[in-house]
Amino acid sequence: MASTYPVHLVLVGPPGAGKGTQAAQLESQFGLKQISSGDLFRENLKNQTELGELARTYIDRGELVPDNVTIAMVEDRIQRPDCAKGVIFDGFPRTLEQASALDEMLALQDSEIQLAPALVVSDDVIIDRMTGRRVCRNCGAVYHMCYNPPKAEGVCDICGGELYQRSDDLPETVRNRLFVYYKQTSPLIGYYYAKGLLVRVNADQPIGAVSREMVAAVRTVIDK
Ligand code: AP5
Repeated sequence: MASTYPVHLVLVGPPGAGKGTQAAQLESQFGLKQISSGDLFRENLKNQTELGELARTYIDRGELVPDNVTIAMVEDRIQRPDCAKGVIFDGFPRTLEQASALDEMLALQDSEIQLAPALVVSDDVIIDRMTGRRVCRNCGAVYHMCYNPPKAEGVCDICGGELYQRSDDLPETVRNRLFVYYKQTSPLIGYYYAKGLLVRVNADQPIGAVSREMVAAVRTVIDK
């Protein structure tokens, strides 16, 4: 049965699976707010905050930022009015501790996670996607040099900002991020499966085909 708003979704999947790409499309289609913990950390890095400096040491090694810091950051962010209709969580939770903290935060708002789409994709594809990724320094829009190139090389289609390669997208860091994913984040698949919330999406297809599967899955919980 379709839910009434607010609706909360958790996108589960390895680094580079396409969570951010899909979350941005779901945001515009369903009017939910995309909250990416990685983007929140990068915003702090850009603004040279204390949190950003702390996060940098973990991000550059491909390690997870400690749970207490990450949970407090997300808890603070979801209090803002733009989250009233619901949130697409992208990159959070990433540990079982974060997942149960998220359940508790939402319970305090008389809410819960309605669906956890899991993007399934092979390691080879992930490495190819991350090493070809380029991000707008100004608005954060995500491109890929081959699969989703900007119209003009190095320039964002949306705002004209400069595109750059994330420091954690270098091959050595990418391998460690995958290792960390399998060790610390993949148990979330069992966590959401046990709650009956997991739906697997084949992310090893072109962006449009993945989006169609995503939208069909989300329509089972949002009547729109
Ligand atoms: P974060 O920014 O969350 O990185 P991630 O989860 O590793 O995910 P990515 O942003 O790399 O990938 P994505 O799945 O969003 O893929 P995208 O859509 O960009 O985290 C970075 C770091 O911050 C972490 O390592 C950690 O240190 C810290 N952190 C963040 N959250 C944390 C947390 N909760 N706890 C602790 N620490 C945390 O797509 C990738 C590329 O592929 C793009 O170029 C895109 O254009 C392309 N692409 C996408 N879909 C397709 C497709 N279907 N076909 C072809 N190309 C595609």
